[in-house]
Amino acid sequence: MKIGIGNDHVAVEMKNEIKAYLEEKGHEVVNFGTDSTERCNYPEYGEAVANAIVAGEVDCGVLICGTGVGISLSANKVNGIRACVCSEPYSAKLSKQHNNTNIIAFGARVVGIELAKMIVDQWLEAEYEGGRHQVRIDMLKEIEEKQKNK
Ligand code: RB5
Repeated sequence: MKIGIGNDHVAVEMKNEIKAYLEEKGHEVVNFGTDSTERCNYPEYGEAVANAIVAGEVDCGVLICGTGVGISLSANKVNGIRACVCSEPYSAKLSKQHNNTNIIAFGARVVGIELAKMIVDQWLEAEYEGGRHQVRIDMLKEIEEKQKNK
C-alpha cells in the first residue's frame, strides 16, 4: 500500500515510529507532516494527506496530532474523505468494515506507540464489507453534493 502520513508538531516522534513500522511491513509511506517540533497548525497537514488521497497519489492516510481530533476534522472537510479518530483498535477495524474510512487518525497525547501500531494494523487489515453499508456511504456523498450547491 502507498500510505500518506501527516502530523503536527506534537506528533513528530510518533509519526516517525509509525512510518518506520509501516515501512518494515512493506508499505510505501509518503510524509506530508512536519518534521519540526516548532508550533504549527494541524489543518495544513490534514488537508495535504486528504488531497493526496482524492488525487490518487496515495491509497489511504494516517494522521496524528495531539488528540487526532483537529487533524481528522480538517481532512473530513475535503470531499471524498472519511477520516476517523480512534483510540482503540475495535473502532478502527469497524470504521473500515462499515464506513470504508480512507484515513485513520489518533492522538500522540492519547495513545501509546504500541496501541497506535495495533490501531493501524487492525485498520489496514480490515476490508470494507460493502452491501448495506454502501447505502450509507452513498448518503454521505449526497451530503457533500448538497453542500456544494449552497
Ligand atoms: C496542539 O496543541 C493540539 O491542539 C493539536 O495537536 C491537536 O490535539 C488538535 O486537535
